[in-house]
Amino acid sequence: MTHDQVVIVLNTAAWSGGVGVAGALVLWLGRRASVRWLTLGVATTAVLAVVAGTVATSRAMFLSHHDLGVITLVAAVAGVVALVVALAVGTALARWSRQLRDEARRFGESGAFVAGRSGPAEFTALSEELRNTSEKLAESRERELTLEQSRRELVSWVSHDLRTPLAGLRAMTEALEDGLADDPARYHLQMRSEVDRMVRMVDDLFELSRIHAGVLRISPQAVALGDVVSEALAGADSVAQARGVRLGGYVDEDVLVTADPASLSRVVSNLLMNAIRHTPPDGVVEVRGRAVPDGVELSVTDACGGLKDDELSRVFDVGWQGSAARTPAHDNAAGGAGAGLGLAIVKGIVEAHLGNVAVSNHEPGCRFLVTLPT
Ligand SMILES: Nc1ncnc2c1ncn2[C@@H]1O[C@H](COP(=O)(O)OP(=O)(O)O)[C@@H](O)[C@H]1O
Ligand SMILES: [Mg+2]
Repeated sequence: MTHDQVVIVLNTAAWSGGVGVAGALVLWLGRRASVRWLTLGVATTAVLAVVAGTVATSRAMFLSHHDLGVITLVAAVAGVVALVVALAVGTALARWSRQLRDEARRFGESGAFVAGRSGPAEFTALSEELRNTSEKLAESRERELTLEQSRRELVSWVSHDLRTPLAGLRAMTEALEDGLADDPARYHLQMRSEVDRMVRMVDDLFELSRIHAGVLRISPQAVALGDVVSEALAGADSVAQARGVRLGGYVDEDVLVTADPASLSRVVSNLLMNAIRHTPPDGVVEVRGRAVPDGVELSVTDACGGLKDDELSRVFDVGWQGSAARTPAHDNAAGGAGAGLGLAIVKGIVEAHLGNVAVSNHEPGCRFLVTLPT
């Protein structure tokens, strides 16, 4: 670079730099203004910097007076063009951001975000982000609604299920009171079984509320799965015999599982009782336990004839029961239908053990599969 060029660069840098700093300061002070004024400010600073550099160069005698006039004229015209373009861009930016603001406001009002597709990358990114948020919100709203719905259903189901035995009890006590009962002993037996059923139901409700409140206390220890299963089978034997259901069970040798023994027993017996209750006479219910690479697997297979898709997706819901379960014939069935809480409790307990429970159809019935980590 020649000496002259160095001088020109330094001179221009000083003057244009000064204008740049002043422009930056003004922009900083006005940073809360509309983007339209900010872009205009940037363009104005650029034009003024060119003019300042030119004047500096001419003062250092590198430009004739005439040349300075020409350049200033050119800069003025170019400056006007630049300002118009800057104003247009600024206006567009302002419009896009207003559009985004309107979208966000509508999002707040309706809860659903409808994204416009225009605007620079940052705006579309923001818009995309809002759309994601809106989807997440919609999902959680949906979840809350179903939860609320199932809570309402539970209350109505439970009150229905309590009202039936209570009405029966009242009728029986009245009959006994009036001396109208010809066989009081049978009445007493019947009353006893109704009361037992209600106690079971209230126990289930209590257990479930503890699970939901997250205060289910489990003290995991190494348990032999075989022992738990044979205990549950022994407990269910009389019920199975009464219904003519054949029970089978096989657990691989020495399978240990880390679990709370009482809770695990409850899981197995709930599944077993359900399976027996839904299996026709002469059907087979089979329990199978084995070790898998990352834990223990326990399955209960029955001969219920298969479940429909919507039933498969609802069996674990709190309070849900299949249509047959609420008919009076089932009410006092051995092993007793509860209030649709049994499987919700199973799921709660299994999940408290960080395990998983699922149901699938499996000829000639369905299979409940519990997996527990070791
Ligand atoms: N082994 C099974 N085979 C077929 N259907 C079942 C079985 N276990 C449960 N179900 C269905 O799931 C519903 C909910 O079961 P559960 O939570 O144990 O409640 P409950 O036994 O009180 O009806 C039952 O009413 C029944 O319709
Ligand atoms: Mg049940």
